[in-house]
Amino acid sequence: MAIGVFDSGVGGLTIHRALSARFPRADLIYLADQAHAPYGPRGGEEIVALTRAGCETLFGAGATLVVLACNTASAIALRRLQQEWLPGLRAGGRPLNALGIIVPTIEAATGLPWSHPGIEPQPQAPVRTLGVFSTAATARSAVYETEVAKRRHDVRVVTEPCPELAGMIEAGAPEAALRAAVDAHAAALVARIGGPPDGAVLGCTHYEIVGDMFRAALPPGVPLIHQPDATAAALEDYLARHPEHAADGTGARRFLTTGRAARHALAEAFWGGPLAFEPAAAAPRPAA
Ligand code: DGL
Repeated sequence: MAIGVFDSGVGGLTIHRALSARFPRADLIYLADQAHAPYGPRGGEEIVALTRAGCETLFGAGATLVVLACNTASAIALRRLQQEWLPGLRAGGRPLNALGIIVPTIEAATGLPWSHPGIEPQPQAPVRTLGVFSTAATARSAVYETEVAKRRHDVRVVTEPCPELAGMIEAGAPEAALRAAVDAHAAALVARIGGPPDGAVLGCTHYEIVGDMFRAALPPGVPLIHQPDATAAALEDYLARHPEHAADGTGARRFLTTGRAARHALAEAFWGGPLAFEPAAAAPRPAA
């Protein structure tokens, strides 16, 4: 029994690293769908189909629970898969499930679960502005705006789409080019708000790989809500309520890719060491 961690590419390693630290004994299988990255410019139906295929690969490799370590997949595909595919899905008699990373992030950003009854703002409460950097598909979905509005009417969300950035990170673009892109998006967000946001979310897991560039580009004092930590905390809570997906194994770590199993300098610098990806097609299938 293992936990799968899925992303279009190397971005989900930012979530994986937090899960790995929080659940050292869990068996974790990472899948990068690098044959189809980036997802951000793709259409909705394609993202749903690719996300389902990624989950199938991870379930086939022995995961019973998949964390969609990808905002784009969480925004576009998760609800559809939860409505149309995941209910009743089992392998070897065990239930299978997938979880997203956006709701934990919003709960961390607003301090409120969706069921919180008091969503009306206090009359004198100043409106706070949350800046979100995301892919084009996540921005179009307005998921951050919608989910924040369910909890807080006194928080305004301004999303800055960064259509080229995940692809640049995935392709291992030079540092200067990455820094220029991050600087431009941070400046654009501040200009649209008319000042610094009260908090910001790197709403694409690839961006945490260049998190230091975002921290340097944003005005001093803007807190970044840390999506990997928020996800790890939410998963701990979920696992406490769902012992069928217990995170106790041998601490095995596997890294699969649908693409070419090549080294990725940026991801390895973030990870702090070499990463050995295996071709996903060769992932062994567990006995039924
Ligand atoms: N890392 C992903 C996300 O969090 C996907 C980026 C992409 O493939 O465009 O949105």
